Amino acid sequence: MEFTVQTANPAKVETACLVVPVFKDGDLLPAAAKLDDASERLIGQLIERGDFSAGLGNVQMIPFAPGVSGERLLLVGLGERDKCNEAAFRKALDAAFATLAKLPVSDAAAAFTDVPVGEHGCAWKARMTLEAAERAIYRFVEFKSDPAPAAKLERVTLLVGDGQDAEAAKQGARIGAAIGAGINVTRTLGNLPGNVCTPRYLAEQAEALGKGSDGALEVEILDEEALEALGAGSLLSVGRGSAEPSRLIVMKYQGADNPDDAPHVLVGKGITFDTGGISLKAGEAMDEMKFDMCGAASVFGTVNAVLAIRPKINLVAIVAAAENMPDGLATKPGDIIKTLKGLTVEVLNTDAEGRLVLCDALTYAERFQPASVVDIATLTGAAIIALGHHATGLLSNDDDLALDLLEAGETAWDRAWHLPLWEEYQEQLDSNFADLANIGGRPAGTITAACFLSRFADQFPWAHLDIAGTAWTSGKQKGASGRPVGLLTQYLLDREADAEVETGDE
Ligand code: BES
Ligand code: MN
Ligand code: ZN
Repeated sequence: MEFTVQTANPAKVETACLVVPVFKDGDLLPAAAKLDDASERLIGQLIERGDFSAGLGNVQMIPFAPGVSGERLLLVGLGERDKCNEAAFRKALDAAFATLAKLPVSDAAAAFTDVPVGEHGCAWKARMTLEAAERAIYRFVEFKSDPAPAAKLERVTLLVGDGQDAEAAKQGARIGAAIGAGINVTRTLGNLPGNVCTPRYLAEQAEALGKGSDGALEVEILDEEALEALGAGSLLSVGRGSAEPSRLIVMKYQGADNPDDAPHVLVGKGITFDTGGISLKAGEAMDEMKFDMCGAASVFGTVNAVLAIRPKINLVAIVAAAENMPDGLATKPGDIIKTLKGLTVEVLNTDAEGRLVLCDALTYAERFQPASVVDIATLTGAAIIALGHHATGLLSNDDDLALDLLEAGETAWDRAWHLPLWEEYQEQLDSNFADLANIGGRPAGTITAACFLSRFADQFPWAHLDIAGTAWTSGKQKGASGRPVGLLTQYLLDREADAEVETGDE
């Protein structure tokens, strides 16, 4: 999505559609007031006469407004002024851009940076606006013979009241557009069916990303032979029953002035389909297990955003990709496998496969001597029971890292919630026959899954994001959400800001 910033009087702006947010009390924000003055009090009268109710997310299209250069005017309800928090602001943005994405307009000029939202400044509001615009034009129609027409919207002009805010609006819009595009990359990878999006397909996507990056992204793919030679027996055990070979995908981005700066590492669970293996899942909604690579997809989306923004940090992105199927060669309950770290695992349930691919990827991360490691995984159904579909589960061996991620989630409005990783839970993983078991029973399933991973993350500050409840929507709106690309990208941008403080750079 292209964008520009304008500080001119909104009534004079040439555009296919002016977008103007309005509070329910009818007290107009600066941009709306200017339009109202120019248009014989059109907006004020619509509200006074009750022809437009500015309830949150309501929209009203006005085909033409006297005295206004824009070809159309779209009023967007913000609801009650004292309830205008981040969630309400995003809801109004989503309503506005859902409408715009259906109109025959290729550009729009929106006045959302006027809206008071907590302590947020112009940059944050510009960023949310472009993110919403990107998300709204997303379509997944690759497999439709007669798809609904694509959205026409290509360019958003941000109307900014104060010229001093123009630069901040531009910076924010740039980040919002990059995050929105990254979210859409993640949604597409998630939405692709398991017969297309295989471990090899993910590896090809990484290679294509590397090729298109002008040398900014170095890509390395480990095939099954390389993984065997390495000793990644746990990752390999998951794909044993599949005709699709497993892959470990490594993408390196060097943005820091010093190439030796310790990198931040992202690790994504890339189970391209999870049948449960020999511990076969029930049939209902099993199709949704094509989304079991959404952790990996969020890593790809974040790498895309990083390549667009180019922050001065070093990043290593690792994807552990496999397909979990039952067949004559598949791992069985009771089998004992040897991980890359050397620990042995008794596989009591082959459906707890995510932790088995991630543990070897975490061990692999040790070689980068990372500043931090964050893994992202659709790891446990228990995360949905605990947190539903709003908060991502966060567990960590480092409270500072946990806090950084929580804050990034608040800023990006892609929130996580901290769960305990207390020592007391670890004994649920005791095995009679191996160093540890791969399941810890029904109590606290999300926590014991993280306990399993923690055994492989003792060499660095590490956090785990369980996105089972947040990575996709079920039912009629079935589709990948693109979370937590916003959180992850913000986390990395905050690390760039930290580094600047340390070196005194601007
Ligand atoms: N991919 C699933 C987790 C999942 C299930 C995510 C449903 C979203 C919706 C994971 O591989 C899995 O099967 N986990 C098991 C673990 C159990 C066997 C300890 C689960 O959550 O049931
Ligand atoms: Mn599973
Ligand atoms: Zn799984």
